[in-house]
Amino acid sequence: MSTSSIPAMPRMTPQDYQAFDALFALSSSIGATPAGGLHRLTASAADKQMRDAFCTWLTQQGFHVHVDEIGNIFGLMTLCEGAPWVLCGSHLDSQPLGGRFDGAYGVTGAAVTMATLARQLRDHSQTAQRNLAVVNWTNEEGARFQPSLTGSSVFTGALSLEQALACCDGEGISLQTALQNIGYRGTALPDLTVAAYCELHVEQGPHLELQQKQIGVVTETWAALKWQVTFRGEQNHTGPALMDRRRDALLAAAHTIVAVRAEAERYGEALHTSVGRLETVPNSPNVVTSEATLFIEFRSADEALLRHLRDSFGQQMQSIAQNTATDVSLDRAQYRPRQQLHAALSNLALAQAEKLGLKAMPMRSVAGHDAISMSYHCPSALLFVPSIDGLSHNEREFTATADLHRGLDMLMAMLTELCLKGEDALC
Ligand code: GLV
Ligand code: MN
Ligand code: MN
Repeated sequence: MSTSSIPAMPRMTPQDYQAFDALFALSSSIGATPAGGLHRLTASAADKQMRDAFCTWLTQQGFHVHVDEIGNIFGLMTLCEGAPWVLCGSHLDSQPLGGRFDGAYGVTGAAVTMATLARQLRDHSQTAQRNLAVVNWTNEEGARFQPSLTGSSVFTGALSLEQALACCDGEGISLQTALQNIGYRGTALPDLTVAAYCELHVEQGPHLELQQKQIGVVTETWAALKWQVTFRGEQNHTGPALMDRRRDALLAAAHTIVAVRAEAERYGEALHTSVGRLETVPNSPNVVTSEATLFIEFRSADEALLRHLRDSFGQQMQSIAQNTATDVSLDRAQYRPRQQLHAALSNLALAQAEKLGLKAMPMRSVAGHDAISMSYHCPSALLFVPSIDGLSHNEREFTATADLHRGLDMLMAMLTELCLKGEDALC
């Protein structure tokens, strides 16, 4: 066999990078904010516009599009009838005033890389052992509807479809209604045997930049404890009401916010905490607050620490309630355990990075990702590219184009191995 008859290994060409740049620019323009960020909440008008554009793009590239009952969009590319699938994607929803890379990079990057791989395999008549599917998971962010990772959790069965559809936003609109309103309440997906799931994402932290690495291969994720808590006091006039008779729910919330931060300070970098959202009733400048709802998060790699906090912080909130003459209730609690990603897939990623001459390192993810849901279901990999200044969930979130392209090279190498070698790629 002459070397010219050996099919070239699939790779991204300058035209393929351009196709990615164009699709990513399209995503960045839908729900764009004046400061260069993205505001594209789940099932909003902007989300519908982006979903429509994505479905159109997939169809033009030869993917078969299927929207499932929770609004996940699958782009299916059959290469080997009846074979298992390699699934790859992330999410197109964003945080309010969020960044344009978080999630959108993983969906657009996967779509272009898969279209490129399928085309090159066909051009060289190479036989694939796997089919390819790209996915946009519904409501990864958990910004409009809680819990987060909704679409991927329904896909794996960790969350029931009924529970997910019944989740309501701050206005009381259910996810079911919101999806119906934008035309993305689809139908059950025929069985999809997933051999492997790969997700590309921006790091959203500073470690790759600090270590001067180009690729992060996530080997494990932190655990998270998320609470929605309400203090109830008594609505009264801010002026005449006697100070020692007030039952101010916002005062109780303020003490709680400070206490949440104090826990992080007690445990140093082993614990990250925040109260990201506070809702008050009646929310008027001259009324003592009757109700204050806080959204609290504790994240750590140390699950024993989170178990300890679950009890001790519960007691702290009871004391705060007592001291402010309010009542406190835990409205919702969610625990996401620490999770290991698939070792053989991570090793495959590190080996491919070395072959490509990319500086890679294994790392942990503190942020939540659909790859965490998927890791309970099938071998899953999560690959990071650097985030400038580690800034994320922020309109100034930024990753250089060269880094985005390097991530596509990594994904192409991984998908090629998985597609051509099948099971053997994970040995
Ligand atoms: C999502 O971005 C999360 O980390 O919760
Ligand atoms: Mn994300
Ligand atoms: Mn996010």
